[in-house]
Amino acid sequence: MGPWPNDPLGPQARAAADIYWIMFIAAVIVLVIVDGGLIFAGFKFRARPGHTAKQFHGHNLLELVWTIVPTIMVISFSVLSFEKLNFMNDTRTNAEMTIKVEGTQWTWVYSYPEEQRFKAADGTYLQAAEELHIPVDTKVRLELSSKDVIHSFWVPNIGGKKDAVPGRPTEMWIQADRPGTYKGQCFEFCGTGHADMLVTLVVHPKADYANWVTGALVEYNRANSEETKRGRELFISLPCAGCHTIKGTRAGGKVGPELTYVASKPSIAGGLLSPVNEANLTKWIQNPPAVKPGTVMPKLDLSAEQITDLVNYLLTLKCPTNPTAKCP
Ligand code: CUA
Repeated sequence: MGPWPNDPLGPQARAAADIYWIMFIAAVIVLVIVDGGLIFAGFKFRARPGHTAKQFHGHNLLELVWTIVPTIMVISFSVLSFEKLNFMNDTRTNAEMTIKVEGTQWTWVYSYPEEQRFKAADGTYLQAAEELHIPVDTKVRLELSSKDVIHSFWVPNIGGKKDAVPGRPTEMWIQADRPGTYKGQCFEFCGTGHADMLVTLVVHPKADYANWVTGALVEYNRANSEETKRGRELFISLPCAGCHTIKGTRAGGKVGPELTYVASKPSIAGGLLSPVNEANLTKWIQNPPAVKPGTVMPKLDLSAEQITDLVNYLLTLKCPTNPTAKCP
């Protein structure tokens, strides 16, 4: 953010900023002329010793000027505003993809287009919460809806702001000039979690976007796979749940470390295994004492398949970007 109150980084925001600056500069010019004239006249024609205040009663040229000039200004601002509004409301022309955005107390869920590149192993299409990923310099149409109450989608630097209303679909578009992560905020009070209902928009270089999709599909497939479901049930039924807590499940043990966001931790086994990935989790679960002699975590008699299921499940336990979550 620069020294100015707005820092437009996309055509949508730029349209709003352009009109803001044009009106602001026009207002300053009017202020200087009107107040300058007032002060000048007040001093020059005021009553003072040896000088009586002058009285003016009508001046045709002045009256004409200050009627015609403001009329022209107001008409020009209207035309300009309509032109920008048309541009900002045009969600269709040149839109390269459509992403469905659903507001829910208190997060956004993004469903990517039903295209081959977003197709998951189970035949559904990529869907994710917390972060919206788009390619740079690409007009992306957003279809907004809400599961519960009215929310409002807004990323200030990118511009455009639209309500997500239950039962009444709305749409907007976004486009970013350069890659990066942009923060936004739900802009309609929607309950106790409203302040934490953030928008995180990640803009990728065009060549990188396919890579992100591939990675996101791996995660999506993992989260929706049979292995993960089996892993979750295994974790609850095995002694794991007696020692570890995973919030939102029946696993509530206090002996070992909490695993609610284990996949986002920098390491496991007290720092001996880093990063937290498939290989390290497998190594650890197979035989904890071999990795860390003296550890209280026992070597359980698990089949290779059971370990794969458990690892798949643990890798889905990622910290959401939502800051209300207490993450490692
Ligand atoms: Cu959703 Cu405020």
